[in-house]
Amino acid sequence: MEKSIVYAKDLRKQYGGVEALTGLDLAIQPNLVYGLLGPNGAGKSTTLRILSTLTRPSSGQAIVGGFDVAREPGEVRKVIGLAGQDATLDDKLTGRENLRIFGRLSRLGARGARSRAEELLERFSLAHAGNRLAGTYSGGMRRRLDLIASLLRAPAVLFLDEPTTGLDVRSRMEIWDTIRELVADGTTVLLTSQYLEEVDQLASAVGVIDHGHLIAEGSPAQLKSQIGSHIDVVVESSDHLPIAMTVLERLTGQRPEADGSHIVVAAVDVVPTLPQIVRELDASGAAIRDVGIRESSLDDVFLSLTGKTVDSAKPAETQEVVA
Ligand SMILES: Nc1ncnc2c1ncn2[C@@H]1O[C@H](COP(=O)(O)OP(=O)(O)O)[C@@H](O)[C@H]1O
Ligand SMILES: [Mg+2]
Repeated sequence: MEKSIVYAKDLRKQYGGVEALTGLDLAIQPNLVYGLLGPNGAGKSTTLRILSTLTRPSSGQAIVGGFDVAREPGEVRKVIGLAGQDATLDDKLTGRENLRIFGRLSRLGARGARSRAEELLERFSLAHAGNRLAGTYSGGMRRRLDLIASLLRAPAVLFLDEPTTGLDVRSRMEIWDTIRELVADGTTVLLTSQYLEEVDQLASAVGVIDHGHLIAEGSPAQLKSQIGSHIDVVVESSDHLPIAMTVLERLTGQRPEADGSHIVVAAVDVVPTLPQIVRELDASGAAIRDVGIRESSLDDVFLSLTGKTVDSAKPAETQEVVA
């Protein structure tokens, strides 16, 4: 725990009869992006709400930036920023006016807040839109303004709950650039995301959460290598399935899955080469239409750990209009 900037031990949270967190442990090193992945209802938002002092844990301990969230919530609030999917902006105010209000809440003082807001508007390419009503902003601009609001006090730790959900690809990449810049400046970012690609791109450490606690942790590369590679084989007809499956099981030591004439098998410890697979299948007499080996993606990791695909776990995507 010594070097952790975010630390949690056996966090539990009950909402009535619902156990949202069931003993969550976290130890996050400073100055990186930590991605919290998990299906809907896994407890990601609850974790972020506890760590940012918005709600209290039922039991367990959490330390953020050296302060205990239950005993020193005021100190925690001074070192964190929080932004998310539900931007808390007032549509009837301009971008600058919205920031002025957040500035006052952050006790920066009127002048301090104004100059910091200008600096951030400039840096995140919103200065030109600062005098427009927030209600006229595109989804990507709103998310950026919300992010700026959370950065007024240069937080050591920034919590981002699904910062890019529902955004188009271009806005998503702008937010990614912003997050990378923050980390380059020394901020630690804890983000949740529905987009595995986002976590793969940004996070150097990933925690997979399901049913209220961590079920796996590591770098994206480590998590993928735990799942191994996938071998895909398409046989000429289902007559050839049993023999091809026997060969693949012998080569990998893993049980293949078949869907129609398509066979998939994981190769974790032993990864045969493509020529080896083709040779063995040929020798067995199985007629093959297609053979391939692919690296596992974080999607495969997610599916293998939680039994759910990300698509089935996420709500319908919202469309946004780009201004
Ligand atoms: N304020 C609340 N009252 C009651 N139940 C809640 C509340 N917030 C979250 N939950 C429940 O706690 C569980 C975890 O929710 P949440 O942390 O939002 O998951 P995630 O963000 O991973 O989708 C879910 O079953 C959810 O319905
Ligand atoms: Mg959530």
